[in-house]
Amino acid sequence: MLDELWPGLLAIAATRAAAPPPVMPAGLRHDAQHGWQLTGDAGRETAAQERFALFKPLIDLDSWVVAQLGQSLDGCIATRTGDAAFVSGTEVLEHLHRLRALSDAVIVGAGTVAIDNPRLTTRHVPGPNPVRVLFDPQLGLAGGVQRAHVFTDRSVPTLWLCDARWRAQAVDLAGAARVLAVPGLLRDNGAPDVAAAVAALRARGLKRLLVEGGGVTVSRFLAQRALDRLHLSIAPVLIGDGRRGLLFPGPERMGDCARPRCRVYSLGGDRLWDVDMRS
Ligand SMILES: NC(=O)c1ccc[n+]([C@@H]2O[C@H](COP(=O)([O-])OP(=O)(O)OC[C@H]3O[C@@H](n4cnc5c(N)ncnc54)[C@H](OP(=O)(O)O)[C@@H]3O)[C@@H](O)[C@H]2O)c1
Repeated sequence: MLDELWPGLLAIAATRAAAPPPVMPAGLRHDAQHGWQLTGDAGRETAAQERFALFKPLIDLDSWVVAQLGQSLDGCIATRTGDAAFVSGTEVLEHLHRLRALSDAVIVGAGTVAIDNPRLTTRHVPGPNPVRVLFDPQLGLAGGVQRAHVFTDRSVPTLWLCDARWRAQAVDLAGAARVLAVPGLLRDNGAPDVAAAVAALRARGLKRLLVEGGGVTVSRFLAQRALDRLHLSIAPVLIGDGRRGLLFPGPERMGDCARPRCRVYSLGGDRLWDVDMRS
């Protein structure tokens, strides 16, 4: 069912969510009050409604920040050596590629590029590749540019997002067109300012942002309240002393902990939690 709807979802994303595409996609309709909805046979099927609900928040809005992580039952996103291939099953991997295809930009931390060396393309689903953004305020990847696929593969644009104090070094290594050097991206206390990163990307017209990992980067966006949604998938695997997914300063009392609105989906053997971070 998702395969049939997918071209329509891509068409909506391509024309920007707020303005319906010139030709209404099959099986979908739009009104100002309810946003995008399923129609016809699909609109009457519970399974179809369920799958559509996962994507509806992403096509109803023109601008969002969504993070994803695929973790184990014990909260790890990789082993202690950084091996993350593959924590999640194939359906979660396909979902990740769909998220990329609906995004203007996909953001990863320097640790992920150094260890995983991902390509960040949409090769498992039809759809456009997002701009690749390496969120690296302190230029930690300076020694690894030559081997990083996000720099060596020139078929998709990459932006190296760093603090302005490292502009010259980054331009030397990657070329001016691939550097987005932002004043104040690193605060005086050395912590990255995620809001400054989001503002700089929006100023470039990159409004739908997928924060793909790793745990440190997603946790920074979460702790600084920059996320609209979190797609957290849990795989039936135990990793042990691996790399943590979410880790941020929390309250002392259980009663003060956040309980955001969530909806859970089955993707193969994994469970995907769609967390509404604005609730
Ligand atoms: N399962 C999943 O969904 C998923 C998704 C993505 C990645 N991963 C895995 O997550 C792990 C990486 O995540 P992470 O949380 O450690 O980091 P990350 O969020 O990818 O990157 C940020 C961290 O990397 C550090 N860093 C900077 N330069 C580095 C370098 N050259 N080499 C290594 N680290 C550097 C940064 O330090 P500073 O802030 O001091 O610069 C910061 O602590 C990898 O094992 C990757 O395979 C899993």
